[in-house]
Amino acid sequence: MKILAYERVEKPVLDALKEKHDVRFFKNIDTKQDKEFIEFLSEADGIIGLALDVNKELLEKAPKLKVVSNVSVGYNNLDIPELTKRNIMATNTPGILTDTVADMAFGLILSTARRIPELDQFVKNGHWTESLTEEHYGTDVHHKKLGIIGMGRIGNAIAKRAHHGFDMEIIYHSRSRKPNVEKEYQATYMDLDSLLQESDFVCLITPLTKETEGMIGKREFQLMKKSGIFINASRGGTIVEQDLIDALKNGDILAAGVDVFEQEPVDSNNELLKLKNTVTLPHIGSSSYETELKMSQLAAENLEAGLSGRKPPNLINP
Ligand code: DGY
Repeated sequence: MKILAYERVEKPVLDALKEKHDVRFFKNIDTKQDKEFIEFLSEADGIIGLALDVNKELLEKAPKLKVVSNVSVGYNNLDIPELTKRNIMATNTPGILTDTVADMAFGLILSTARRIPELDQFVKNGHWTESLTEEHYGTDVHHKKLGIIGMGRIGNAIAKRAHHGFDMEIIYHSRSRKPNVEKEYQATYMDLDSLLQESDFVCLITPLTKETEGMIGKREFQLMKKSGIFINASRGGTIVEQDLIDALKNGDILAAGVDVFEQEPVDSNNELLKLKNTVTLPHIGSSSYETELKMSQLAAENLEAGLSGRKPPNLINP
């Protein structure tokens, strides 16, 4: 079979696939222009990879395609109705990255509240020459109120850390009520506006869909406390990025920690990178060695199942 591998497929998994199939790996290319990519795509039986835009235009060039296996839990890069119409299976990698992403979201909460990257630079640049005063203090995380938007697996794992590790009070907003979360972490369900008004920390971890696109913008940031900290561990498209920049500059909120951007890789001139009250990461939530390898392995399993006519374990479009 011909397998088109794109961006993040870990080497041991790629090598194992190469033993069985004709695999071509692509990275950092313009998928609309690259001749080798377009030529291989026209013959490909399967695609495995991260964040390749699989839309109608691409599918027109891939007449033999049977499976598209995403190496991620998010699948906003896939046009599911279009894939389904063409009888092409789409799969993702849920479950195995849950704790890794939750750890990272908590890392953003802690590093933003306690200004860890900024103070790291302060020490390393030799500025720690005398006893510090309040201009360098951060804000507490423990015993504060955490508002989680999106209570899927990862939201649940963030709530667990917050409740058991940091004695935080959990409020959440989600498509549906989660009785298990309410019971285990004494979490309270709220409408979005109330959550924004009440939270000390707002953590966005919802998937990017038509319904969630741009769901947090100027109005929502203005509802937050001026001492509030905003964390985005979902997708750049779930917020209006310029409105976040304005909210941070105007003092509508205190600080933000973001792992995701509207455009990735982020433009080095993006204002979020210039602000002192932001902590920024390169969309690395699931990227520990262990978890990336497991994600690639699961994606390969999904791919192989689909290619051999079996139902993949993580089929998105049944
Ligand atoms: C995911 O799995 O969706 C992570 O955000 C990596 O893209």
